Amino acid sequence: MRTQVAIVGGGPAGLMLARLLELRGIESVVLEARDREYVQQRVRAGVLEQPTMDLMDEVGVGERMHREGLVHHGVELRFAGEGHRIALSDLTGGRAISIYGQQEVVKDLIDARQASGLPLYFEVSDVSVDPDAPRVEFTHEDSRHVLDCDFIAGCDGSHGVCRPAIASVLTEYHRDYPFGWLGILARCRPASEELIYCHHERGFALASMRSMEVTRMYLQVPPDEDADRWSDEEIWDELDRRFGMEVNRGEVFEKGVTPMRSSVVEPMQHAKLYLAGDAAHIVPPTGAKGLNTAMADVCLLAHAIEASYGGDDAKLAAYSERALERVWRVQHFSWWMTSMLHRFAGDDDFQLKLQLSQLRYTTSSPAQATALAENYVGLPFAA
Ligand code: APR
Ligand code: PHB
Repeated sequence: MRTQVAIVGGGPAGLMLARLLELRGIESVVLEARDREYVQQRVRAGVLEQPTMDLMDEVGVGERMHREGLVHHGVELRFAGEGHRIALSDLTGGRAISIYGQQEVVKDLIDARQASGLPLYFEVSDVSVDPDAPRVEFTHEDSRHVLDCDFIAGCDGSHGVCRPAIASVLTEYHRDYPFGWLGILARCRPASEELIYCHHERGFALASMRSMEVTRMYLQVPPDEDADRWSDEEIWDELDRRFGMEVNRGEVFEKGVTPMRSSVVEPMQHAKLYLAGDAAHIVPPTGAKGLNTAMADVCLLAHAIEASYGGDDAKLAAYSERALERVWRVQHFSWWMTSMLHRFAGDDDFQLKLQLSQLRYTTSSPAQATALAENYVGLPFAA
């Protein structure tokens, strides 16, 4: 087999890259380890930045997002028992975010790929990549395949094979946070019209949603917490305590603990292999940046690959450097939000006062509120 770009991983990064390449007349083959059902059901993030919404429109898959997504023009920061609204759109010249589950984005991109009749293989196994050849080998339906290509896109997430294949040339930067998030999905109206990020002495809490009928809530918990140790009742009671109000309750139909960590590898490329999305970097979910940063990477990569076929290799050579500028901005923002809102083991009262001061400043100074808002709605994707 032969193609121009072999894309390892059919998550948001791999599927969006395939779509961007298709629209530029560049061939690709997408290889996904899981089955279609699994990738479409997997519960992940739910906030699309303005540039991600714009990208969905640009590649012609934004129709259902506009119909079913919930556009939000603000978020609330809650601390010392009071809510303070950050007017995202007023502070950013009308930019906004949309609540639209990652699995919905994945569904829309898979549908578009299949409508175009282009190759997307599910349930591939034993994937190996040779970044120099370049070549990808994999097993599909009991047959071994060799896929020769011009470029390999490593979009296979944080547990994939692409990053390990070039580990010897990579420097890894890590930060583990000493807590996790216990998250639930429940059938009830959201606690509020907009998301609430809540600082509390007992720990952080977040009120989010998937629709006006499905609420998504999170509680800061110890990093190795067993979700089953919490009854639904205990979760709701703790949410009420931290938010300082009675939140709407309903049937809990999904419960799990998300670890909180940051990591970045540099460079994001070696030989003919280019990493994008979670394969190259992870952020804690506090800034809602994981999916959006993956989209920013593949946007840049698609432009660079297109330029390369047009005879200009400079953009591809500079891919990692350009991508990492935005990646580190997002890392900083995610770290800043996380540090401001969570209680760390061993924090003293001095630290608590510093956090409250920062929160007060962020919600009262237009300059500081604007800094939060422009990062939250998403800094522009580099073209
Ligand atoms: N071969 C083929 N596919 C693989 C392999 C492999 N060896 N290993 C993993 N995969 C697949 C996974 O099953 C998954 O569908 O690669 C895909 C990677 O998708 P994601 O993990 O969703 O990563 P990405 O596309 O970079 O999306 C950005 O950021 O914060 C997160 O929640 C956010 O998952 C989102 C991610
Ligand atoms: C979510 O709805 O899952 C969500 C929202 C905002 C975040 C993280 C997760 O910062």
